[in-house]
Amino acid sequence: MAKIAPSVLAADFTALGKDIAEVEAAGAEYLHLDVMDGVFVPNISVGVPVVSAIRKVTDMVLDVHLMIIKPVRYVEDFIQAGADIVVFHVEADELQNIQAAIDKVKGLGKRVGLSLKPKTSAAVLRPYIAQLDMVLVMTVEPGFGGQKFMVDQLDKIREIRAMIEVQNPACELEVDGGIDPTTAPLAVEAGANVLVAGSAVFGVKDRRAAVLALRG
Ligand code: DX5
Ligand code: ZN
Repeated sequence: MAKIAPSVLAADFTALGKDIAEVEAAGAEYLHLDVMDGVFVPNISVGVPVVSAIRKVTDMVLDVHLMIIKPVRYVEDFIQAGADIVVFHVEADELQNIQAAIDKVKGLGKRVGLSLKPKTSAAVLRPYIAQLDMVLVMTVEPGFGGQKFMVDQLDKIREIRAMIEVQNPACELEVDGGIDPTTAPLAVEAGANVLVAGSAVFGVKDRRAAVLALRG
């Protein structure tokens, strides 16, 4: 069964502790935290202090999605803040620096993932896939919640699932963007096993029902 990763971007920032406690009680496996720098994506969200604050109020697995340029500069700070899984974008730096960021996360004993924007093809994963704990396929252009799921990403999800099965079966395949009870089954059928959902969880009053609906 797919794991559910509610995205805090859609939570009530004046009542974060309460919102997080609700999705934890609802049985969501991961808590997804979106970090944006206003350069890699045209939006700014939250940073290290918010991750540390959240770490103090939950035992959930913190899945930190860095939408920032040159992530190698900050991965250690986010791990010190309490990240369990650090995911950054393959488009965010040159190959050797992406490799350095992967090495840094693994050296600090945490899980590492690479994320792909919609226009990036699965082939970019070739040098990395055997080393990863997670691949995150964006099913919207990163930067904002509440966008429409891009069905044209399903073939890429299938292709990456096939690569994972051959090269690194323990690697998780996460999808992010426009996931709701209608699109979740499409992503799972294509091979995703972790579903990020912002609006579909925090935009709904009954968070338990929302998590259940995503599991299908
Ligand atoms: C967007 C973020 C997503 C966002 C998803 O760039 O990476 O995690 O919160 O929001 P929904 O589920 O509303 O599409
Ligand atoms: Zn995200």
